[in-house]
Amino acid sequence: MSAVSWIHLLLYLLLSSAVMAHLDCTYNSWTLLSCSWEADSNFTSSPCYISTNVKNRDIKGSCDLTPNSNLRNCTINLKTDLKPVKEILTVDHKLNMSVICSDTLKRNASVTFLYEFSAYHNLLLDSPSSTEIKMISDDVWNLTWRISQRSKIKNIETEVQYKRVNSLWQDAQNIRVKNANFVALHNLHPKTQYEAKVRVNQTDFAGGRWSDWGRPVQWTTLEVALDCTHNSFDTVTCSWRTARNLTSTPCYLLAYVNNNNENRRIKGMCYLSPSGDYRSCVMNLTTNGKHILSAMTFSHHMNVSVMCSIGNFNRTVTSLSAFFPFYNLRLDPPIILDIKMLEDGVWNLTWVNKHRNYIDNVETEVHFKPVKWSWKDAKRFTLSQYDLSAFLRDLHPDTLYEARVRVNQTDIQGGRWSEWSKPVQWATPPKGSAFPIPGAVAISVVLLILAVALCSSKR
Ligand SMILES: *[C@@H]1O[C@H](CO)[C@@H](O)[C@H](O)[C@H]1NC(C)=O
Ligand SMILES: *[C@@H]1O[C@H](CO)[C@@H](O)[C@H](O)[C@H]1NC(C)=O
Ligand SMILES: *[C@@H]1O[C@H](CO)[C@@H](O)[C@H](O)[C@H]1NC(C)=O
Ligand SMILES: *[C@@H]1O[C@H](CO)[C@@H](O)[C@H](O)[C@H]1NC(C)=O
Ligand SMILES: *[C@@H]1O[C@H](CO)[C@@H](O)[C@H](O)[C@H]1NC(C)=O
Ligand SMILES: *[C@@H]1O[C@H](CO)[C@@H](O)[C@H](O)[C@H]1NC(C)=O
Ligand SMILES: *[C@@H]1O[C@H](CO)[C@@H](O)[C@H](O)[C@H]1NC(C)=O
Ligand SMILES: *[C@@H]1O[C@H](CO)[C@@H](O)[C@H](O)[C@H]1NC(C)=O
Ligand SMILES: *[C@@H]1O[C@H](CO)[C@@H](O)[C@H](O)[C@H]1NC(C)=O
Ligand SMILES: *[C@@H]1O[C@H](CO)[C@@H](O)[C@H](O)[C@H]1NC(C)=O
Ligand SMILES: *[C@@H]1O[C@H](CO)[C@@H](O)[C@H](O)[C@H]1NC(C)=O
Ligand SMILES: *[C@@H]1O[C@H](CO)[C@@H](O)[C@H](O)[C@H]1NC(C)=O
Repeated sequence: MSAVSWIHLLLYLLLSSAVMAHLDCTYNSWTLLSCSWEADSNFTSSPCYISTNVKNRDIKGSCDLTPNSNLRNCTINLKTDLKPVKEILTVDHKLNMSVICSDTLKRNASVTFLYEFSAYHNLLLDSPSSTEIKMISDDVWNLTWRISQRSKIKNIETEVQYKRVNSLWQDAQNIRVKNANFVALHNLHPKTQYEAKVRVNQTDFAGGRWSDWGRPVQWTTLEVALDCTHNSFDTVTCSWRTARNLTSTPCYLLAYVNNNNENRRIKGMCYLSPSGDYRSCVMNLTTNGKHILSAMTFSHHMNVSVMCSIGNFNRTVTSLSAFFPFYNLRLDPPIILDIKMLEDGVWNLTWVNKHRNYIDNVETEVHFKPVKWSWKDAKRFTLSQYDLSAFLRDLHPDTLYEARVRVNQTDIQGGRWSEWSKPVQWATPPKGSAFPIPGAVAISVVLLILAVALCSSKR
């Protein structure tokens, strides 16, 4: 053989092995093999089919590849004795698969070959079906689905994604569960349309792929009847949109931590005084009956119920069965507001925040105005860094002013603005009373110059 022929043969082998790698098949664990073939340009439209057989067993199948740019695919329904059966391959079965195309002279030739294909190491299960959603309580939803797989496959991992209908799947929340056919979804926004979808992978055999996503389900969450927040220390405050016929019934809030493995019982209770459409109160949490400022942790969740005395019984009227205090933070308002005038007529407003010390990021809103204006006309600005002071400029002379601040922690989702602090009031000096370039400053400048002079003379 000439050198040139050798090179041709080599090229041919290289080419054909490259082509072989482009036949990709998956098995759904029943009778279906789905294959796709990355055909080279010579074969994008010629009549081709995939054929397979299992040695020494009467298992056969074939499918015609639909012409379709370079990625041609089809699904083989395996048969035995030419009869369809429900379950067909076992773990040990290996298949030879070939792509056969006919040329212009209608001669059939094998173009690509997949040698000893192990179906069980290329499982792609059917996508989950019958996905459904049911409400467990006002704020918890149960997503359920069904999976179809052979009994040989015992271990299934499921991925659940859910999101608001008008946001993108790429921003969806993700949950993975093992061998489960339901998952409870918490912490959804009230009165919002959601959708969820599910896919599966078996984890008994290597090489499994994710199934296609099942058909998404949609639902709409309820308007909150009970809205609770936590101050990061020891109180939970709830507001209840009162059912019409219960506005004057004696009712109280009852809350306890659900997932406390320790021997500590953290709970809270307060009476909801009647006050129109919304009734609210503040629960001081106790731990085994004692007050502990920092008993709550990030992982704790609580069952919060509204109990009303109806007839001769205390009945649960509405409840949150998984209230996560740290994902519903509303910090206490800032305290100890103080204001000082600086030399140039700018005012320095200062305050103090109260919250657990692992909250590192807080945004602050500042409002200030002459006392006789209304708050809606106040000058306002937001500090997005953690600050405990802010400068107020351009104040009218000889005016009584007031300022207030509120905070939102920005470390954890779901934060709310605190209530407004108590306002601080002060009077600006009359015009012309030159802002006191105070003697103190003049003296310190002199002292500084003296000190510098002293130091340099010592050198
Ligand atoms: C594709 O077709 C061209 C021209 O018809 C031919 O030269 C080439 O060998 C073919 N390639 C394969 C992989 O058959
Ligand atoms: C696959 O093809 C090879 C080579 O032709 C052969 O040796 C092997 O027995 C075949 N295997 C099956 C399962 O048909
Ligand atoms: C072939 O691939 C297309 C695109 O990925 C897909 O929509 C179609 O269902 C596939 N057909 C078969 C028979 O697998
Ligand atoms: C090529 O294969 C197809 C499908 O099996 C068959 O219908 C056709 O008769 C074959 N052609 C030749 C020339 O063998
Ligand atoms: C969700 O529904 C499934 C099926 O009906 C049930 O088995 C499961 O207990 C439910 N989960 C919860 C948290 O209620
Ligand atoms: C599916 O599970 C198998 C077995 O654990 C693993 O080998 C495979 O990588 C998984 N597939 C995906 C897409 O995660
Ligand atoms: C209040 O009204 C609801 C339905 O609107 C009813 O189910 C409930 O029994 C009523 N409660 C009382 C105390 O009448
Ligand atoms: C909670 O504690 C505060 C301050 O100690 C107290 O003023 C308030 O009455 C308490 N509330 C309840 C419901 O016990
Ligand atoms: C309802 O609960 C409250 C608070 O625990 C209690 O004071 C009241 O006696 C209870 N009423 C009934 C009818 O059990
Ligand atoms: C929450 O408390 C209410 C009333 O006590 C009860 O009906 C409900 O089952 C509780 N939920 C959980 C998850 O503990
Ligand atoms: C404003 O007050 C804060 C708190 O006392 C202080 O840290 C800051 O330096 C003051 N700003 C000026 C310019 O004096
Ligand atoms: C407070 O900050 C958190 C975290 O950045 C954010 O999720 C939340 O929307 C903010 N709340 C308000 C009322 O801006």
